[in-house]
Amino acid sequence: MRYFIGNWKMFGIPSSFKILDKINQYYLKDKKSNKKYKIVMAPPLTLLQDFSKRFKNKKILISAQNSYHQDNYGAHTGFVSPFMIRKLGVSYIIIGHSESRASGETEEIIKNKVSLALKNNFNVILCIGENQKQKRKKMTLKTLKKQISNSIMKKYNFRKIIIAYEPIWSIGTGKVPSHQELKKNALAIKKFIKQKYRLKFNPKLLYGGSVDKTTVGIFRSINELDGFLIGGASKSSKNFIDIIKNFYT
Ligand code: PGA
Repeated sequence: MRYFIGNWKMFGIPSSFKILDKINQYYLKDKKSNKKYKIVMAPPLTLLQDFSKRFKNKKILISAQNSYHQDNYGAHTGFVSPFMIRKLGVSYIIIGHSESRASGETEEIIKNKVSLALKNNFNVILCIGENQKQKRKKMTLKTLKKQISNSIMKKYNFRKIIIAYEPIWSIGTGKVPSHQELKKNALAIKKFIKQKYRLKFNPKLLYGGSVDKTTVGIFRSINELDGFLIGGASKSSKNFIDIIKNFYT
């Protein structure tokens, strides 16, 4: 099963459901792929309730982009808990995106977010990635391993966790790793997780960072990847559908 997950970030108003409608129509007509993929879209919080109702019996799944890390309810002005989001019928959640980390989210907070989201029966999309400096200093794998180890406990159900490898230097920049580099990192991440958490199956791993209809072609043959986390190109139905088309040609 492959995943094409869109991350709208701070984009979208109620009428933007039309973008998802078009993607859903494409999915229903798409015969080539034998439907071996899932589409998950993460609109902003303001659209979660409407979109999860609207797409309830459709093929597109809805994801949140973040959530609170401590309790189900509490005196936390401006925050929303995974418990509250789950009640809307939303079943996926992105945690630890580099943009959330950059605005002050620590590894301790991310660890608690993952834990609370799993307790609320979410599928967690945990983002990890090195920055430009770490890459230059050849600290990529060390960074990724630390991010994983500090957020995921041994007892967790890895069938509910998807790792999204997103090099920070690649997000929104048009720069992507080479085929060889990404394959090497993808293999190393999967191997590390399997060994550390003693898994009998392969963990799910996505790549994210400037994925579009052209770059997806470079990564098509990397079998270690179970899909893509797509930012900018997920805001247009055409761009998003072109990614799926090019992946399966
Ligand atoms: P991008 O964003 O596709 O616009 O690079 C990816 C992400 O931040 O998840």
